[in-house]
Amino acid sequence: MTPAKPHSPAPLPPNALISPLSTSPAPLSPEALPAGRILGIETSCDETAAAVVENGRLILSSLVASQVDLHAQYGGVFPEVASRQHIRTISSIVEGALQQAHLNLRDVDAVAVTRGPGLPGSLVVGMNMAKGLALGSGLPLIGINHLEAHVYSAWLHAAESPALAEPRFPLLVLIVSGGHTEMILMTGHLQYRRLGATLDDAAGEAFDKVARMLGLSYPGGPSIQKSAEGGNPRAFDLPRAWLDETWNFSFSGLKTAVLREVRRIQERNRPVPVPDMAASFQAAVVDVLVGKTLRAAETFEAKDILVAGGVSANQALREAFAAQKRFRVHIPPLSLCTDNAAMIAGAGYYRFAHGQRDGLEMDVLPNWVLG
Ligand code: KG4
Ligand code: ZN
Repeated sequence: MTPAKPHSPAPLPPNALISPLSTSPAPLSPEALPAGRILGIETSCDETAAAVVENGRLILSSLVASQVDLHAQYGGVFPEVASRQHIRTISSIVEGALQQAHLNLRDVDAVAVTRGPGLPGSLVVGMNMAKGLALGSGLPLIGINHLEAHVYSAWLHAAESPALAEPRFPLLVLIVSGGHTEMILMTGHLQYRRLGATLDDAAGEAFDKVARMLGLSYPGGPSIQKSAEGGNPRAFDLPRAWLDETWNFSFSGLKTAVLREVRRIQERNRPVPVPDMAASFQAAVVDVLVGKTLRAAETFEAKDILVAGGVSANQALREAFAAQKRFRVHIPPLSLCTDNAAMIAGAGYYRFAHGQRDGLEMDVLPNWVLG
């Protein structure tokens, strides 16, 4: 990687003091956005990550230490184990991210850290690291909503790949992760109107639970995708919960339907056709996610659609969005779909540019809702 150019931060905009919980400062025009290089830290679940991002778009470095092998034996994230592992890894990951960017702390303009939602014991590790860095260096500290960060992953690009077209507002946002399924209308930078969310399981959670039922490995999303490659998506007629008249989702009925089919087959002492079941389940999830998102985009006259979060890595979902030609759909590259810290630094830049500064008394918000 080439060393970053010398850099001096632009002066703060006049609206520099914004309360820590504010999610809707008045958006600045693109020309009014100051320059800024942000160190991002993410420890909300089972990835310990740090990254440096310039001006909300260019990734100067990004390191992710995944704990997936540690948790695979439990079939899901074990919170105690996650937080202890974050403690072991966080310092070297932050140091590594600065080194990879050829920068010192004094070369960045702020430290952004995931404040929530997430596992309390995991969030606290990143928060304490960020506070320590801010206190020691005098840099501003910025608490970031993890879901907002997933959204801003669509603005990011690495040095070797050109910047993609910027998402246009009003923007219909679908966030599909292990903990959340949210439909949001973004009217400008940092402006969110929450339209709907899952009433029960998140999309990623449904992938993880169904994978376990089918004897596939954790995390379930990638294993179901792989198994489904060899299966017939029409082999089982599984239910789709459209929840018409709302922008909410529900995946528990689908999950129960899979369980019922699996038991019915097992009672007859027959082998479960795992690839067919995986493909049928995946098709049901994709139908609902894509169908409702397109309908919402039309209803709210969105210019573009943005899909983010771990499940946005799903190939069938990406292909289904690519197959329609009504809307330009922004989906981050695979490496930025699942949890990382570049997205925290990316969102951190827009918060920094709009004047957010948080105090050292800031606490984590494990159930923080966006919008
Ligand atoms: O965004 P993320 O890394 O963490 C949260 O914030 O929750 O999302 C993790 C979720 C897991 O449930 C995982 O099974 C799912 O994203 N996932 C996938 C795929 N890759 C990850 N789901 C479907 N297809 C995939 N290829
Ligand atoms: Zn996430």
